[in-house]
Amino acid sequence: MTTQSKASSPSHICVIMDGNGRWAKKRLMPRSFGHRKGVEATRRCVEFFATAGVKYLTLFAFSSENWNRPDDEVSNLMELFMRSLQRYTDELHDQGLRIRFIGDRDQFSDKLCQQIEQSEVKTENNRGMTVNIAANYGGQWDIVNAARQLATRVQEGDINIADIDAQQFASGLVLDDAPNPDLFIRTGGEQRISNFLLWQLAYTEFYFCDCLWPDFDEREMQLAIDEFQRRQRRFGKTGEQVEVAPEC
Ligand code: FPP
Repeated sequence: MTTQSKASSPSHICVIMDGNGRWAKKRLMPRSFGHRKGVEATRRCVEFFATAGVKYLTLFAFSSENWNRPDDEVSNLMELFMRSLQRYTDELHDQGLRIRFIGDRDQFSDKLCQQIEQSEVKTENNRGMTVNIAANYGGQWDIVNAARQLATRVQEGDINIADIDAQQFASGLVLDDAPNPDLFIRTGGEQRISNFLLWQLAYTEFYFCDCLWPDFDEREMQLAIDEFQRRQRRFGKTGEQVEVAPEC
């Protein structure tokens, strides 16, 4: 008798935290209130997944396209990132977690860049879960960056075009030192990737839920993990190939 091989615990989870604005609107409150509640949900999520043994958690906090939102919402979000880092870096450090920012920092204020660096440096030697915060990040930006790096190396005679393979290409991406995400979660009811980790999601399991981000609690997180564990990950193989015999 054989049994299906089920996905084990995810080692890397990535999340599109969607629905803050709608959560606030339903309560006749400004969107900024929803984002503040979103930070609380983010804190719960970090704690839950770190305790569950997840090694990498990548959170989409601000996309390259989010600059197109109204000016006051953008400045409110920047202020919220700043305050959240000031407030929670020590707490995350005490829990042994590592904070990293991925994305293009060029458009951030000097003050925010300094705070980001301070949070990263303080936590860089921690061995607990790595929390990657994707801010001014876009999957296309990431891929273009990697292509530029390879082009430069070819131009400098460091590598030959014929030697470029997927592994070498991926080494120029921002998450080059992490395994690709096992599980992608998007809250808020939309079912799209929105220019998140385009390359890295090649074999990731997708989980969409209607719950708005501020309502994403431990029960919802466990539902996502449970669903992931029911999936059969085949990585291009057939179901029969990945089925395993039960232990006697
Ligand atoms: C999407 O909801 C959410 C954002 C663009 C901001 C996400 C940021 C946070 C949750 C704060 C996290 C903070 C840190 C420090 C990581 P939306 O505004 O698109 O909601 P809507 O779809 O209902 O309008």
